[in-house]
Amino acid sequence: MAAVHDQENPPAAAAAVVVVVVPFLFQSHLNQALQLAHLISSYKIPVYYATSAAHCRQAKLRYNGKNTSSITHLNFIELPMPPFLSPPPNPNSTLKFPSHLQPCLDVCLELRHPTAALLRQLSSSSKRVVVINDTNMAYVTQDVATIPNAESYSFSCISAFSLHCIINQGILDEYKTNVDRIYLKPIAETVTPEILKFAAYQSPHEDLKSGDLINTCRTLERSYLDLLKDKKQWAVAPLNPVIRATDEMINNNTCLLWLDKQPRKSVLFVSFGSTTSMMDEQVKELAMGLRQSKQRFLWVFRDAERGNAFSDDNGDRKSGLPDGFEESVEGIGMVTRDWAPQVEILGHGSVGAFMSHCGWNSCMESLSMGVPIVAWPMHSEQPYNALLVTEMLKAGVAIKECDGDLVGSDLIKEAIEEMMVSDEGVIKRERAEEIGLVLRNAVEEGGATRLEMDSFVEHITR
Ligand SMILES: *[C@@H]1O[C@H](CO)[C@@H](O)[C@H](O)[C@H]1NC(C)=O
Ligand SMILES: *[C@@H]1O[C@H](CO)[C@@H](O)[C@H](O)[C@H]1NC(C)=O
Ligand SMILES: *[C@@H]1O[C@H](CO)[C@@H](O)[C@H](O)[C@H]1NC(C)=O
Ligand SMILES: *[C@@H]1O[C@H](CO)[C@@H](O)[C@H](O)[C@H]1NC(C)=O
Repeated sequence: MAAVHDQENPPAAAAAVVVVVVPFLFQSHLNQALQLAHLISSYKIPVYYATSAAHCRQAKLRYNGKNTSSITHLNFIELPMPPFLSPPPNPNSTLKFPSHLQPCLDVCLELRHPTAALLRQLSSSSKRVVVINDTNMAYVTQDVATIPNAESYSFSCISAFSLHCIINQGILDEYKTNVDRIYLKPIAETVTPEILKFAAYQSPHEDLKSGDLINTCRTLERSYLDLLKDKKQWAVAPLNPVIRATDEMINNNTCLLWLDKQPRKSVLFVSFGSTTSMMDEQVKELAMGLRQSKQRFLWVFRDAERGNAFSDDNGDRKSGLPDGFEESVEGIGMVTRDWAPQVEILGHGSVGAFMSHCGWNSCMESLSMGVPIVAWPMHSEQPYNALLVTEMLKAGVAIKECDGDLVGSDLIKEAIEEMMVSDEGVIKRERAEEIGLVLRNAVEEGGATRLEMDSFVEHITR
C-alpha cells in the first residue's frame, strides 16, 4: 500500500483497521508520537491519539511549529486522568534527571482502564485494533492481551545504538574508543530510583508486543538495528518535517526573523530541551563561554518544564545570566525565553551548529537538517546519543561529561571554536550535511524510511 499523503479525505467511519497511539507523557515523546500518528493517517487509516486532555492539548499546541491545521483529521481522545502535583524543577540537583515530573508519571498509570475501555469499544467496530505504545506504557496498554482482535507495537523514541546500550547495560568494548570526553555512567545511575520503580511496573507486560517501530533511519543506524534482533522491526525516522519555514512563519517569529538577518551558517543554536535545568553557576559559565567564543548564537534560555506544561511559569528561567549579559552580546547573540520552533530554526540557513543535550529528537531534527552538534548530554540515554553523533557518525564535537560537575567556560569556548572555526569543524559540518541529505532522501517516495512505513502499514492492514 502506497502513501497517499492527502489530508483532504477523512478516514471512513467503519474501518477495517484502526490505529491507537498511546504516547508517553514527556514533551519529547508526545511530539514524536503525534508525528507518527500523522504519518500513519496519511495512509488513510483512522488514527486515535489517546492521552490525558492536558497532554492532548500540549501535543497539539506544539505540533510542527504550531501548524495544527494539518492534524485536524486525527482523533484526539482525551482520557480521564487524576490531577497531579506539578512542582518546579530543582536546578541545584546533582542528578540531572527531571525527578520533578514523577507525580505526573505516577498518575499516568491510571490511564490503564480508560485506555482498555477505548480499545474494547474500537475492537467491536473494526476488524483489527493496532495499538502503538511508547516507552513505559506497557502497564497502561496491558489489556491488549484480553482483546482478540487487538495487537500492540512498541514505539521507541530513542536511537537504536542507545537501545542496544540499554539492553546490554552499558557500552560494548568495541565501541569504547575515544569515549574519554563523554562521561558514560550506567543509566541506572543517571536516573531516579522512582523512575526505575515506574519502569518495573511495565516489565511484566513487556513481551506482549507484535513488533517495534524505532525512531531512527536504517541507512544511518543499520548495524545497531541489526544487533537488536527484534522479531519485526521498522525504522521510521526522521519523523519531523524536513521542510524549511515559510516566509509567513519567519515573519511571525522573533527568533526566525533574527536568524534571517545573520550570515549563512554563522549561528550556534543553543537549547537543552524540555527536561534540563542548570545550576546558576553553570548558566554563568555557559554565558561566558558563549561570549568568549565570539561566535553568533541563539540561546533558548529555559528551565525544565513542569509536569503540567500549562502552569503559569512553566519553563521560565529567571536567574543565572551574568548582569548585563544580553546588552554585552547585542548584535552577536540573541537570548529567547519562549518556546522556540526548533525544527524551523535548525532548518534556517543561518544556523551553523547546534549545542544540544542530545535528546534523540533533537539529534534527529538537527541531523535531518544537516546541522552538526556540539554535544552536552545531561541524563538518561543522552550520553549514548552524544557518543553516536560525535564518534560514530562524526557529525559533532563533545563538550564534556554529564556527571554533575561544573563545566567551565574555557571548555565550552573550546568546543564552540572547534565546531565553528577549526579545520576539524569543517569536516564535521560536511559530514552533517551528507547525513542530512541521506535523511531527507529517506522520507521521499521510495526512500529507506518511506519503504519501511509502507511495509508497516502493509503489515497491519494484511
Ligand atoms: C499548515 O498545514 C496545512 C495542511 O497540511 C498546509 O496546507 C499549510 O501550508 C501549513 N501552513 C504552514 C504555515 O506551514
Ligand atoms: C539553588 O542554589 C542557589 C545558590 O547557588 C540558590 O540561590 C537557589 O535558591 C537554589 N534554588 C533552589 C530551587 O533550591
Ligand atoms: C507496549 O504495550 C505492550 C502491551 O502491554 C507491551 O508488551 C510493550 O512492551 C509495550 N511497549 C513499550 C515500549 O512499552
Ligand atoms: C501569524 O500571526 C498571525 C497574527 O497573530 C496569525 O493569524 C497567523 O496564523 C500566524 N501565522 C503563522 C504561520 O503562525
